[in-house]
Amino acid sequence: MAGTAVDVSGVSKTFRIYHDRNQSLKATVLKGGRAKYEEFKALDDVTFEVPEGGTFGLLGRNGSGKSTLLKCIAGILSPNTGTITTRGRIAAMLEVGSGFHPELTGRENVYLNGSILGMSKQQIDSRFDSIVDFSGIEKFIDQPVKNYSSGMYVRLGFAVSIHTEPDVLLVDEVLAVGDMDFQAKCRAKFADFKASGRTVVVVSHGLEGMREFCDRAAWLEQGVLQEVGPATAIIDKYRDSGNVTEIIEGGGQRHGSGELYIDTIELVGENGAVDNEIRTGESPTIRLNFEAKRPVERPNFKIAIETLEGVRIWSTSCKQLGWQPDSVQVGQGSMDFHLDRLALAPGEYVVNAEVWRDESTTPVDSLTGSFRFGVHAGTPFALEGVLAMDARIVAKLPGQ
Ligand SMILES: Nc1ncnc2c1ncn2[C@@H]1O[C@H](COP(=O)(O)OP(=O)(O)O)[C@@H](O)[C@H]1O
Ligand SMILES: [Mg+2]
Repeated sequence: MAGTAVDVSGVSKTFRIYHDRNQSLKATVLKGGRAKYEEFKALDDVTFEVPEGGTFGLLGRNGSGKSTLLKCIAGILSPNTGTITTRGRIAAMLEVGSGFHPELTGRENVYLNGSILGMSKQQIDSRFDSIVDFSGIEKFIDQPVKNYSSGMYVRLGFAVSIHTEPDVLLVDEVLAVGDMDFQAKCRAKFADFKASGRTVVVVSHGLEGMREFCDRAAWLEQGVLQEVGPATAIIDKYRDSGNVTEIIEGGGQRHGSGELYIDTIELVGENGAVDNEIRTGESPTIRLNFEAKRPVERPNFKIAIETLEGVRIWSTSCKQLGWQPDSVQVGQGSMDFHLDRLALAPGEYVVNAEVWRDESTTPVDSLTGSFRFGVHAGTPFALEGVLAMDARIVAKLPGQ
């Protein structure tokens, strides 16, 4: 039987929030060392076990205490009460570039960081190429890291961490930072880790990714553990609890009250085929495929087309177009928006989709930035810009 990699028992962590933010040290000392503060419980009596040799996900809204918990497990913070027992060597990828020295080059930082994390010079020498290769920043390895983008920082830091060959790897939101290639590399590495009996504890907002690579998960809400169990069940419960902002694999975000999800947005061409490419002047359909988890009264489906820079070009809703369902029952369905003669110039565009209930202040579901399509030149023609309009010329030339 597998043992326990991390045993969290009755852990509470309290932070002091100081009210007078501008209070100087001098003023504090003059008042007899008393500054006004309030205690804030970021973790409240949290108990659970992470079994050895699997991938364990931590879920929860922003501020629910996930990062604090990972820092406690990593030993960066110590809990006020409770104990944490870990088995084996721990490596943590928690904060962007933590442990990096800005003036040193990437190469120097790999050695510095690697030795802080317990690797010998020989070990780093032999793993160096693999570290750099994983980070994907070969070209910049001899530049000071202060010139790196935050994505490069994360990639290099993460590459060093995983090459320490830890028994337990703690990862905080890294997958949201890297590009698709890097995310794929990380997933492959997690799979390696799993196959070799190591343990990964990961915090991520990418729920679909979590569903794919986590075996078990724990859900935190305002520092209090809600549930622990098989990842799929916990992720479903968390998602269905509503108002969850989720990062979607490959980009985009979703949030909403959770009764209904827009699963996919599709562009359907005139010939009925689903395609992400279209020509100006064609008449495509934007299709929202959705699933209702609970009945929804009078939902209004909205779509918007935006440029990649986020400039909204156009939007409409089913209500605006003259029809709104009285209710949607539990199950799967779709909503088609037929567009007449697309007036977009060649380029790339984003479709965002939302479902609202009348008089509600939060959407039932809102999916942004996840669906892109390309427009190729057609009729009418546009030299540049985002609109394609019909135009004619009449000229009056001098002397005629
Ligand atoms: N060093 C700190 N001092 C004061 N409050 C903190 C500190 N670190 C975290 N917190 C607070 O603790 C709560 C949990 O934070 P965090 O663990 O970062 O949540 P999460 O990672 O789930 O978004 C938040 O309300 C945050 O503002
Ligand atoms: Mg966090």
